[in-house]
Amino acid sequence: MTSFWSWYIVILTTGTLLALVWLIFATRKGQRTDTTDQTVGHVYDGIEEYDNPLPRWWFMLFVGTLIFAVGYLVLYPGMGNWKGVLPGYQGGWTSAKQYDREMERADAKYGPIFAKYAAMPIPEVAKDELALKMGGRLFASHCAVCHGSDGKGAHGFPNLTDDDWLWGGSPETIKTTIMKGRKAAMPGWEAALGNQGVKDVTGYVRSLAGLKNPEGLNLAAGKKSYDAMCVVCHGPEGKGNQALGAPNLTDKVWLYGSNFNQVQQTIRYGRNGVMPAQEDFLGNDKVHLLTAYIYSLSHDEKDQ
Ligand code: HEC
Ligand code: HEC
Repeated sequence: MTSFWSWYIVILTTGTLLALVWLIFATRKGQRTDTTDQTVGHVYDGIEEYDNPLPRWWFMLFVGTLIFAVGYLVLYPGMGNWKGVLPGYQGGWTSAKQYDREMERADAKYGPIFAKYAAMPIPEVAKDELALKMGGRLFASHCAVCHGSDGKGAHGFPNLTDDDWLWGGSPETIKTTIMKGRKAAMPGWEAALGNQGVKDVTGYVRSLAGLKNPEGLNLAAGKKSYDAMCVVCHGPEGKGNQALGAPNLTDKVWLYGSNFNQVQQTIRYGRNGVMPAQEDFLGNDKVHLLTAYIYSLSHDEKDQ
C-alpha cells in the first residue's frame, strides 16, 4: 500500500473513532441520571416515550466496543501499513500465518497417529476402525466435493466404491493415483472420422456393452474405425487399459453417461478427466489413511 492510502485509512479510521467517542459522550452530557415518568411528549399510535437516559450498562457497552476497537487496531493490521503487534506473530498477524500455526499444532497432535498408520500395510489399516474414521473425515473435507460424500461419484467423477477402476484398484495404485494425480487423455475424433464416422463408432462401442442403438448406423464401419483407432488404448475387445486410464467400454459403468448422445459427445470431442495430485497438499501419511479408506469402500470384509 502506498503511504498516501495508508494515511488515508489511518485518518479516516481514527477520525471515525473520535467522532463516535464525541457522539456518545456529547449526547449523554446534561442528561438526567435518575428515571422519571415524564414523557418526551410525542405520541404515536397511542405509544408514548419516557424521557429516560440510556441505562448505564448499555452506555458502558458502547464504551466497551470503542476500547475493543482500539485494542484490535493495535494488535491486528487494520491501520494502513501498520502490521500489528499480536504476540506470537513475528512481523505481524496474517491469516496465512494463523493457518500455518494451526496446521503445525494439529500436526504435532495428530502427526504421531498418522505416522503409526503410515507404517502399516494399507489392507491392515483398512480394518482399523479409528483409521477409517479419520480417513472418512479427510475424505469429507478434501474429496467429497468431487466424488460425493458417499464416494459414489457423479458425471465425470468416478465412483470409488465399486470394483471398476479406471487406473487400478490395488492399494499401491490407489495410493499413486491420490499422491500423483491423474490426467486422462481421450482424444476427440470428429476431425478424423467425420460426423457419420463418429455415429457409427458410437453405435459399435455401445453394442459392445449390449446397448440398443438407433436405426441407420453402419456398425461394421464402426468396428473398422474402432480397430484402427481405438484399440491402442481401449484394447481389441474394448476392455480398457488401466495403465492409460482408458475405461472398459463393455461393462455397465459409464463415466460420462451411456445414452447415445453422451457417448457420441465423448467420442466426438474427447474427454480429459483430471484427478488433482495430493502429495504436496496432504502429504504421504494422510494419503495413506485416505487410501485405506477408499480401499475399504470398495472391498467387502470377505475379500479383504
Ligand atoms: C490415447 C488413448 C485413447 C484412444 C486412442 C481412445 N481413447 Fe477413448 N478414452 C481414453 C481415456 C483415457 C478415456 C477416459 C477419459 C476420462 O477419464 O476423462 C477414454 C474414454 C472413452 C469413453 C468414455 C467411457 C465412459 O465410461 O464414459 C468412450 C466411449 C471412448 N473413450 C471411446 C473411444 C473410441 C470410440 C475411440 C476410438 C475412436 C477411443 N475412445 C480412442 C483413451 C483413449
Ligand atoms: C477436483 C475434483 C476432484 C477432487 C477434489 C478429487 N478427485 Fe479424485 N478424481 C477426480 C476425477 C475427475 C477423476 C477421474 C480422472 C479420470 O478421468 O481418469 C478422479 C479419480 C480418482 C481415483 C481413481 C479412480 C479409478 O477408477 O481409478 C481415485 C482413487 C480418487 N480420484 C481418489 C480421490 C481422493 C482420495 C480424493 C481426496 C483427496 C480425491 N480423489 C479428490 C476428481 C477429483
